[in-house]
Amino acid sequence: MNGIDFTGRTVLITGGGAGIGLACARAFIAAGAQVIIAETDETRCAKFAATYPQAVAIRCDVTRGADVEALADAVRKLDNKLDILVNNVGHFLHSKAFETLTDGEVDDILDINFRQVVRVTRAMLPLLRAAAPGSSIVNITSIEAFRGIPHCAIYGAGKAAVTGLTQCLALELAPAGIRVNAIAPETTDTPQVPLDYMIPPQNRAHMDKWIPLGRFGMPEDSAGAALYLASPLAAWVTGTTIHVDGGALAAAGWMRAPDGQWTVVPMISGNGIELGA
Ligand SMILES: NC(=O)c1ccc[n+]([C@@H]2O[C@H](COP(=O)([O-])OP(=O)(O)OC[C@H]3O[C@@H](n4cnc5c(N)ncnc54)[C@H](O)[C@@H]3O)[C@@H](O)[C@H]2O)c1
Repeated sequence: MNGIDFTGRTVLITGGGAGIGLACARAFIAAGAQVIIAETDETRCAKFAATYPQAVAIRCDVTRGADVEALADAVRKLDNKLDILVNNVGHFLHSKAFETLTDGEVDDILDINFRQVVRVTRAMLPLLRAAAPGSSIVNITSIEAFRGIPHCAIYGAGKAAVTGLTQCLALELAPAGIRVNAIAPETTDTPQVPLDYMIPPQNRAHMDKWIPLGRFGMPEDSAGAALYLASPLAAWVTGTTIHVDGGALAAAGWMRAPDGQWTVVPMISGNGIELGA
């Protein structure tokens, strides 16, 4: 028994209609779970429901309190308990210099990356307690919660706040047998971060110099970590974050020169990211 069997367990994934959330949904479905996605995009909801008739797609904007209350009611009606909550929704929204951000933009970024995680988690806690001991929360943060990122200061700060919440809740919920962990992905090919746009093909040659494991992330990389963290294999793991980053954080600026030697000295012209650079 490898512990990755979720038969009889109910999993809620916010933003499960695309990218990392969808990969998590697929992975939990394949492992036998009853999966519910909470997704704001109607087309993605409909596509998910048609592709996975054994799962449930609920139209929900997690930044809206009324939607989240309705979501909790729907989960309660379905199973009267929740075994696993994957707080996946998040977005950098406005990539611009810190001093040019308006108050409204700061609120938008904190709403989508932090406040909704608080709201959804609070709404689902009675259901997670009903499945405890053994229930768990997996928060999708970002590698940017662990290093600086220019022009996404509030996003980085919001993701770091989720790291703090993960640690504090891990303590608070441990006596109930509810584990709380996080996953911090590096650049991963999703509709939000489409690699063909972010890293055009002519610049992919840099990839093996940049990321120690030689490629960017696929949504399935994070889904594998989510499956592990939610499973009995991680029964003694709480309050921690798995960096799903191909070794990028460990490299911390080290990269390989064209001759394969390691260096911290910048060696490419242009920024290597924008088309034609
Ligand atoms: N892709 C990356 O490179 C990357 C890197 C680090 C962290 N992350 C984090 O991973 C998570 C998933 O990212 P992704 O790239 O898969 O995103 P994505 O935008 O490709 O997919 C997110 C899904 O969430 C849905 N969604 C958006 N707002 C919602 C809302 N208010 N309520 C309900 N559903 C909503 C979208 O419709 C979409 O289906 C995010 O928290 C993101 O910050 C992603």
